[in-house]
Amino acid sequence: MSEKILYSYSALFDTPDKIIHAAKTVAEKGFKKFDVNTPYPVHGMDKAMKLTKSKIGWVTLVFGLTGTLTAVTMMGWMMAVDYPIVIGGKPYFGLPGFGPIMFELSVLFGAVITVVALLMFFLKLPNNSHPVHDTEYMKNVSSDKYGILIEATDPKFNKNEVEALFQELGAEKILPIYFDEEEISFKPKIFDKKFIGFLVIVAAITSLSVYGTMNKVLYMIPFSWMSEQGKSIPQETSKVFKNGSDMLPPVKGTVARGYLPYRFKGQPDKAAELLVNPLLPTEENLALGKTKFNIYCSPCHGYLADGKSRLNGNFPAPPTLHSNKVRNWTDGRIYHVIMEGQNVMPSYAHQLSEKERWAVINYIRVLQRSFNAKESDLL
Ligand code: HEC
Repeated sequence: MSEKILYSYSALFDTPDKIIHAAKTVAEKGFKKFDVNTPYPVHGMDKAMKLTKSKIGWVTLVFGLTGTLTAVTMMGWMMAVDYPIVIGGKPYFGLPGFGPIMFELSVLFGAVITVVALLMFFLKLPNNSHPVHDTEYMKNVSSDKYGILIEATDPKFNKNEVEALFQELGAEKILPIYFDEEEISFKPKIFDKKFIGFLVIVAAITSLSVYGTMNKVLYMIPFSWMSEQGKSIPQETSKVFKNGSDMLPPVKGTVARGYLPYRFKGQPDKAAELLVNPLLPTEENLALGKTKFNIYCSPCHGYLADGKSRLNGNFPAPPTLHSNKVRNWTDGRIYHVIMEGQNVMPSYAHQLSEKERWAVINYIRVLQRSFNAKESDLL
């Protein structure tokens, strides 16, 4: 048989006033390990018991900040190390953009771990055994009485003194509470083999049935999804042509409709000599040139073509287009740079139609003239 050990002395009171008074007196006498149980929250009890602020806030703070740090590290690594992409000319490590994720992870870590800490460390779950469970004391305080108990392990605890103190406070009933070895060595039922087995079976049935419906049943006739359509997929063989491809290369010696191959590939000098700008610098053409220049050229060359790049050093800044060199170039030579690119500058042939290319060149001429205006221009 297990031995009974004294857990605490408890007292029951009739009214909220009496319990407040009792809590206040017990706290003032210097007891630390005591608790109050009432059928409903009694206003002012924290103060009467001289409770200090809960430490749980620190758990939230520490793990919230861990979340913030995790987000910064994760985003920083992804954006600056693992997969750096220039987005809108922003730096790779763009802290403002990490904001939402930092916020989310702070809240997630803080909240989840606060709840887990509350249950595991402060309430000691999954062990839900406590000496006051199933006692007369608990039956009373969960219906219409107000109870206080002082634990026997309190350094100031003395059976007779505590009993006298409770009597003096006007206790209606004084009850010792015992607990036994069995309760101390209590193993929570959660770790019961049968329970774990049950959980495993539930998990297996749920995942198998979800897997079956989502991956098999939903793809059987009569269901049909876009992923089931006939289509060409890169690197896969198809039945369309004999050689197993879906498309054929263009027939030799032909060009696609509406497409004119560039005649001066790799021949800048010929382009300079033979290409002539067919567009007049009309107001309309210049407006078109300005629009296209601002969209496609100005990020690197600057709005004034003076080489003031807006890419913050993420792409080498080009030289000014107001140099004597470029001013003396023919329109055909600039056209060649747009078609073929030049060193690090890529080709812009695909972004601009033929007309737009010439319009951009006209606009560059206007910018050049504005930087080198002659006196006669003022007349
Ligand atoms: C991604 C940035 C970028 C864009 C966009 C860009 N360029 Fe350039 N461009 C450069 C760089 C860098 C050079 C210098 C290349 C070199 O080292 O020769 C350059 C050179 C040039 C040159 C030759 C200048 C010289 O002195 O040799 C011309 C002309 C030119 N670009 C015109 C254009 C036009 C027109 C557009 C718009 C259709 C355009 N560029 C768009 C980066 C750019």
